[in-house]
Amino acid sequence: MKYSSEIERRRSFAIISHPDAGKTTLTEKFLLFGGAIQVAGAVKSNKIKKHATSDFMEIERQRGISVATSVMSFEYKNTLINLLDTPGHKDFAEDTYRTLTAVDSVILVVDSVNGVEDQTRRLMEVCRMRDTPVIVFVNKMDRDGKNRFDLLEEIEKELRIQLHPMTWPINSGKDFKGVYNIDAQSLLLFSPNTKADADGLSITDLSDKLLDEKLGDRDAAQLREDVELVEGVHGKLNIEAYMAGQVAPVFFGSAINNFGVKEMLDTFIRIAPSPRPRMTTKRTVDAQEEKFSGFIFKIHANLDPKHRDRIAFLRVCSGKFERNKYYHHVRLDKDVRFSNPYSFLAREKSVIEDAYSGDVVGLFDTGNFKIGDTLTEGEDFFYTGIPSFSPEIFKEVVNKDPMKTKQLEKGLLQLTDEGVAQLFTQYGGTKKIIGCVGELQFEVIQYRLLHEYGASVTFNAMPFYKACWLTSEQPAKLEEFMRFRQTNIAADKDDQPVYLAQSEWFLNTEITNHPDVKFHFTSEIHQ
Ligand code: G4P
Repeated sequence: MKYSSEIERRRSFAIISHPDAGKTTLTEKFLLFGGAIQVAGAVKSNKIKKHATSDFMEIERQRGISVATSVMSFEYKNTLINLLDTPGHKDFAEDTYRTLTAVDSVILVVDSVNGVEDQTRRLMEVCRMRDTPVIVFVNKMDRDGKNRFDLLEEIEKELRIQLHPMTWPINSGKDFKGVYNIDAQSLLLFSPNTKADADGLSITDLSDKLLDEKLGDRDAAQLREDVELVEGVHGKLNIEAYMAGQVAPVFFGSAINNFGVKEMLDTFIRIAPSPRPRMTTKRTVDAQEEKFSGFIFKIHANLDPKHRDRIAFLRVCSGKFERNKYYHHVRLDKDVRFSNPYSFLAREKSVIEDAYSGDVVGLFDTGNFKIGDTLTEGEDFFYTGIPSFSPEIFKEVVNKDPMKTKQLEKGLLQLTDEGVAQLFTQYGGTKKIIGCVGELQFEVIQYRLLHEYGASVTFNAMPFYKACWLTSEQPAKLEEFMRFRQTNIAADKDDQPVYLAQSEWFLNTEITNHPDVKFHFTSEIHQ
């Protein structure tokens, strides 16, 4: 196949974590390994600061900077790595979920002190929906954390994934002495700020006296016991089970000290999948197919009214994307070409001539794209599996200026196309309801409607906590339910019926009382 060597050497993935577990720090170490940055601290400045939660303009400004780091591409040992950044801020969780549809695998960072946290759980649910292969990095081993066996049990139970330790830690906190690489049979002794090329001491036989010499008798004995137990339980890593998202290899380390990172990166390039086949509405498309195809998974708008450009992020799923070549925009049924597509190599945006399956390309957009749009070389299909999740906060849009109704409608449609929020219309009425994951988005929407569309709005809070998409094999039953529960029913943008639940209790009651109606917690754009 024409592009197979290019495609096989690509690894497109995301690092995910609960805020503060160490995602930014780990990203930075990866970039240092890849030679994409020279100094530590370079990535930090682009992070959405945790304390800036109330000032969305500041957050947007920082997000603006972070467009440049949306995708970080670098080479490591002849592997081309595309690291897709995900916003750490909880209010932008939906952005993260969509980014996960554009990667082939993920690295999940867990803080050894805090264990599994809220956001980790949700992110794993999204990974599970797509059977995404996961590698776990247990970070901050230099701090007094949970007992390692307890922690692994907690991760397995909470995230419902089987773990496979690849390295094993020797103590933690002040007593942290390093990790034993079970697979490579080598001992890596901890030292703060480990050099990028530090290699472990080869210890092929755990009874080697070198172990006692380096760790002391007590810790050496403990390590022997632990490793025997771990090996006995887990055996060799089953790569197929990893690929199927059933088993997650685990590494222990300390990102800030660059410790245990190289072991993981070396394993990652060895086992993580290159671009995989993907489902479309018509057929499965193989990454190695010669003809280009791809989909838009994220749209980033510039908030500056003087530069009202948007950047649509295209994940190439098959073949080769070329600059200035005409491609078929399936939804609009028209041919489009791009004179300035850009890639994101080493934090610099640069115009590119071509990109291969697995790559992400930034396309300047003047309003032609919405999330889930597919480009092909002519064939009509859409990539599937790009979900919308239920919003958590619902508000009715109140138009303060009836003269601007048209502008408001256009603005609402365009902003929701970008995926900023979800739009629902009351069943049998015209009331517009916006659903978001965080309060911040309402501020963003209000600001943008006014500055970009001249429409002035306020919001009325609505007492809903979740939206469920409804289907039924018996249309009459569904219709009856909708009529019966009119005040809780709305239509989403694609006219799909949605039930807006006031509380879990109400939702569960309806689910029990109406077995013929199916309640879905996500809606896939293009089923
Ligand atoms: P995030 O992107 O997942 O939100 O986490 P980030 O990398 O920003 O790390 C969160 C905090 O944890 C940072 O400290 C960072 O320095 C620290 N950290 C990361 N890895 C380790 C580790 O291996 N050991 C220890 N002890 N700390 C680690 P901060 O004080 O919030 O930020 P900063 O002042 O250091 O920038």
